[in-house]
Amino acid sequence: MQDKTIRIALTKGRLEKKAIELFGEIGFDTAQLKDRGRQLIAKIPGQNVEVVVAKPPDVLTFVEHGVCDIGIVGKDTIMECGGEYFEVSDLGVGKCRFSLAVKKGADFFGGYGAKKVATKYPNVTRNYLESKAVDAEIIKIEGSVELAPLLGLADGIVDLVETGSTLLENGLEELEKIADISARLIVNTVSMKLKKQRIDEIIEHIERKLNRENI
Ligand code: PRP
Repeated sequence: MQDKTIRIALTKGRLEKKAIELFGEIGFDTAQLKDRGRQLIAKIPGQNVEVVVAKPPDVLTFVEHGVCDIGIVGKDTIMECGGEYFEVSDLGVGKCRFSLAVKKGADFFGGYGAKKVATKYPNVTRNYLESKAVDAEIIKIEGSVELAPLLGLADGIVDLVETGSTLLENGLEELEKIADISARLIVNTVSMKLKKQRIDEIIEHIERKLNRENI
């Protein structure tokens, strides 16, 4: 990486559009980023900034290893994967929550015997269930976790809930909120020292924009 270039890793998917909007609002020309086709690294003209669009855990990996200076990633991924970087701002976008959900009317906390809980987030789920002293087997699912209780594979799921409509449409209900989730801005620990001025400037622009909206 050229020394003065700031490389930002951006999470592909739901957060991507919101983050690109935010970049536009702080004066970044996002034309190349929006229209990048299959190109993996987009330049922001006149800013000495490059943006890499990546899957959530890869955003953490790139920032942790210093090949990207800044990352924009959900708190869900941070909670699940951990890692060494500074979490500097809550961007307040991509708001949702981690919740425990069950088939409507199911008595998850009652009865004896270990429960089965399906999730894409085994670490978050283990920590949560341990904190509740629930004896459970955790089953890792890659796709629609909601299928697990419907198919009789699990007693409950731990998943992200935004509007609640996926649960509702599948006869499931939220039993307990585990944590509030939103997009976070993270920074590589070395970049924070070596490129402090430029990184501070970008963070300040973003925070100023966010604060204005929150007033
Ligand atoms: C997430 C999550 C739920 C759904 C919740 O999946 O896993 O399935 O959104 O949203 P709702 O409360 O607004 O219905 P997403 O659509 O991101 O797809 P994924 O399964 O690929 O993660």
